[in-house]
Amino acid sequence: MKKLIAAALTASMIFSMSAMTLCAEEGGTLVMATNAEFPPYEYHEGDDIVGIDAEIAAAIAEDLGMTLEIQDMAFDSILAAVQSGKADIGVAGMTVTEDRLKNVSFSDTYAEAAQVIIVTEDSEIAGPDDLVGKYIGVQLGTTGDLYSEDIEDATIERYNKGFEAVQSLIQNKIDAVIIDREPAKVFVEENEGLKILDEAFTEEEYAIAIAKDNTELLDKVNASLADLKESGKLQEIIDKYINTDTDNSEEADTEAVSEEATETESAAE
Ligand code: ARG
Repeated sequence: MKKLIAAALTASMIFSMSAMTLCAEEGGTLVMATNAEFPPYEYHEGDDIVGIDAEIAAAIAEDLGMTLEIQDMAFDSILAAVQSGKADIGVAGMTVTEDRLKNVSFSDTYAEAAQVIIVTEDSEIAGPDDLVGKYIGVQLGTTGDLYSEDIEDATIERYNKGFEAVQSLIQNKIDAVIIDREPAKVFVEENEGLKILDEAFTEEEYAIAIAKDNTELLDKVNASLADLKESGKLQEIIDKYINTDTDNSEEADTEAVSEEATETESAAE
């Protein structure tokens, strides 16, 4: 009998301990998994990881009375880290997709996004339809990677970092890069001879990934996000990193979804 009680006690202790590690508690650490190769959402600045996502996560952690810890990893490892509980949240300009929803939960969305096409200035490629049969560079495991598989006869070159795909394009090893709009703008600005095509490849939305069984954290994150939206803090963070004014003056074609509340037509579904 004693043995039985002891066993029951240990079992319930183990259960409550594992429940504890599952839910992020006040005073604890909120571990964020990301891939800091994605300006302006997350990138390295000296020893720090900065950007829109880093600041949103910091604001959420602060709201929950927790300390934020950022873990940098390959983009295609983020969901596994969240699923296994190694990380509490995946914040990485991550697009909500049906497939990902099978493995994790997503918070409410916090940004409109798009996959755009980068080509060299002299390219004959003028829109998504011209990608047939071309060599296309993408970051491994991203939606750019997934959706470009639908392009007829195209050869997909997968890189660990989006920037490496852009390098390849500059070296004329590939014909185009499909990548998220805001990083695309940064890469095109930093390199001569590249342009972003007017017509986007897809329209998407970013959200924070959380383990399916961690509904408590999901609720807390959604409540925090709602506060950040309501107080204007979210927009403030975005405005700090995305200068919509220069977008307008420089290239009328890239400004479409970066403006708040702009509903753009989907170019390719
Ligand atoms: N939005 C794309 C996706 O979810 C790309 C995200 C890449 N993010 C990053 N931090 N490298 O697949």
